This record gives sequence, structure tokens and C-alpha cells, in this order.
Amino acid sequence: MSEETASSVVIGIIGGSGLYHMDQLTFVREVNPMTPWGHPSSPITISQLPTGEQIAFIARHGKHHTHSPSAVPYAANIAALKHLGVKAILAFSAVGSLREEIRPGDFVIPDQIIDRTKGIRQASFFEGTNIVAHATFGDPFSKTFSAFLVPLVQNVLKESEGVQLHTGKCVVVMEGSLFSTRAESKMYRILGGDIINMSTLPEAKLAREAEISYALIATATDYDAWRESEEVVTVSEVLKTLHTNAETSRQVLCYPSGLGVNMPNSKVAQAVIAELHAAITSNQL
Ligand code: ADE
Repeated sequence: MSEETASSVVIGIIGGSGLYHMDQLTFVREVNPMTPWGHPSSPITISQLPTGEQIAFIARHGKHHTHSPSAVPYAANIAALKHLGVKAILAFSAVGSLREEIRPGDFVIPDQIIDRTKGIRQASFFEGTNIVAHATFGDPFSKTFSAFLVPLVQNVLKESEGVQLHTGKCVVVMEGSLFSTRAESKMYRILGGDIINMSTLPEAKLAREAEISYALIATATDYDAWRESEEVVTVSEVLKTLHTNAETSRQVLCYPSGLGVNMPNSKVAQAVIAELHAAITSNQL
């Protein structure tokens, strides 16, 4: 892994269900480092932004969706990105909605998490060692990074009629692989959950331990089972919305005002990326 250490990869992207690759960026190389926690979920694609910075992309579930949420090698993913020099991770995830106003197709940048995983995933780099370490996790997402993303996503969503961005929401992370029962879904609403997925933990915890800023762009694919008037969530419903959401997510990354773009003359893109890069290098995220 040594030749990767000196690279200028500062931004890591973790793509969720439906988002297995990024288009329109200049391909630099692919790496598949062996970490003490094994290989990452997928080989990591490193691409170049117009401003010269490089970004690293991992498909969380593998390029062909072969890792279930419970079996994703989260520690290897975060360790590999850390090793590349990544300072900020932008994660994408498909989620179910626990609120009427968060409609399938909508985007959410959450600020809180409720952990409903079952303790079977490795949630700390220190597990299995004799080191005792406790990192703060009161604010699981980087506030600065999340705030930075809001206008960027809003700008992209202007083009997608009726699609809303919601902020300040709470994501429930459940174990799966089955979706929730109606009773569980209603309980999550009472607990304060707004959206639900199966993969933000332990990813966010491991990023915190690795001292990497972490923000999530969640894309709603369905109303979860709480909604009596609806059929309970089906896989086909999720898949249908997944495809549209992945296209929009790619635009957030590749649109002229998105993080990465193939238009060297886009002043907006360059300004956004320069701002993000400056924020990262001055440790503001
Ligand atoms: N991912 C997408 N939709 C979901 C749901 N309803 N529950 C859990 N994870 C999801």
C-alpha cells in the first residue's frame, strides 16, 4: 500500500445501493489495498477533479451488490480511505421514509442516528485489541460538511421537479436483512426516527474513530411499513426509486455545480471544489 500514501486523495465517496460507479470524472487508477481488516467492499476508483484534486470511490455493497448490509467490510473501507489520505467522506445511502413529508425520491441530509443494529458488526477499530478508547459521537455527522453540502444538493435538485431536500433529520440504522414490521416502524417514529436504512452504522462510527469528517446524503426509496394506507415495503418499489435516485446522486457528484465535473470551464464547480478542498486542508470540516 505504500505508493498510495503520498497521493492527494482528500475526498472519499461511498456509494450505496444503486450507486456503484461515478461517471464523467477523469479516471486515474484503481486500487484494492489489503488492510488489517481485509479488502474493501470493491476496488477503489480514484478519479481526478478539474481542479486537480483526486477523489476515491468505493461501492459499499460491491460493484455487483454482493455484500449485504450486515456483511459489508466497513472497517476495511474506512481504513483503506484513511490510508489514501482521505479527510472527508461523503456517503450515499438508500433509505425508507418514516415521515409523510419525506416522499420517495426525496433527498435527506440527516444530523442524528439511532442504532438498531444487533451488535454483530465490527463497530470499532479497537475491537479484539487491549486498547480502550472512547470517541465522542454526540453529533455523528460533520456539521460543517453537512452544511456545506446543502446548497450544492439544492442546486442539483432544482432540476428535478418536486424532489425536496430535508435536513436536520434522524436516521434509524437497523440490522436487516428483512425490512421492519409495521409495529417496529411505528416505534421508530415514536422514538424520533425520520428515515431508516441498514448501513450508516458502523460506517459513521469507524469514520469518527479514524478522524475523518463524515456526511450522509440519503435518498428515500419508499415509505417504510408504518404507513397503513400503503402496502408494506416491497423490493420492487425500492428498486424502482433506487435507479432514479442514483442518477440524481451522480448529478450531485458530476453536475456542473457538483463535486466533480468534466467541464474544466465550470467556474461554479471549481469554486465549490476549491472551497471544499480549502475547508478540508484547514481542518474546518
Ligand atoms: N433501505 C431502503 N428502504 C429501506 C427500508 N424501508 N428499511 C430499511 N432500509 C431501507
